[in-house]
Amino acid sequence: MSKKRVAVLISGRGSNMEALIEAARDPKFPAEIVLALSNRPDAQGLAKARAAGLAAEIVDHRPFGADREAFERAVQAKLEANRVDLVCLAGFMRVLTPWLVGRWENRMLNIHPALLPSFKGVHTHERALAAGVKIHGATVHFVAPEMDSGPIIAQAAVPVHESDTPEVLGERVLAVEHHIYPLALKLVAEGRVRVADGRCFIDAAPARDAALVAPSV
Ligand code: GRF
Repeated sequence: MSKKRVAVLISGRGSNMEALIEAARDPKFPAEIVLALSNRPDAQGLAKARAAGLAAEIVDHRPFGADREAFERAVQAKLEANRVDLVCLAGFMRVLTPWLVGRWENRMLNIHPALLPSFKGVHTHERALAAGVKIHGATVHFVAPEMDSGPIIAQAAVPVHESDTPEVLGERVLAVEHHIYPLALKLVAEGRVRVADGRCFIDAAPARDAALVAPSV
């Protein structure tokens, strides 16, 4: 089966993008990263993508003002020009409209630094500490019109330590993000993820493949 062509959409550092690029270097990986796309011309991840030999493009959202859909049409044009099969949002800081999300139903993935449906939105590590949770983590999910919702593909849990700062906890979560995003993309690209009733069902060994508990980090 031919490899799925993947675009990674970023706005900043791009460490999850790097994890996906690294995973896709394996000849057996079922997807290839064909495009890195940023809405911010100054995103650090752009240089990382270029250093990895990737096509790195910019669609700056600012000239489009409040017209989110016009921005998304420009993004969609890039995705089509690169014959993209799957889109991975990786720290892409734009709220998407149903126009774009609808075009990529069950083909657009996002990573969120919390165990959804807990802690949607921003500042997840601060909020997890304030809530006193003992377990925190990360989620890869298909993108639905409502922010940080959509069928969950994979999750990873990490312990919360009493001495944690948001930064320390965030680093522990980021380490597992870099594991589960490639894992989730692999499952999707292999065609092993079926969506029904808002849930993902994974062919063969779902517990082992889609859940990562990391007590040692
Ligand atoms: C990650 O924590 C991701 O979960 C969130 O934004 C951050 C992006 O980091 N959506 P990076 O750009 O991948 O390094």
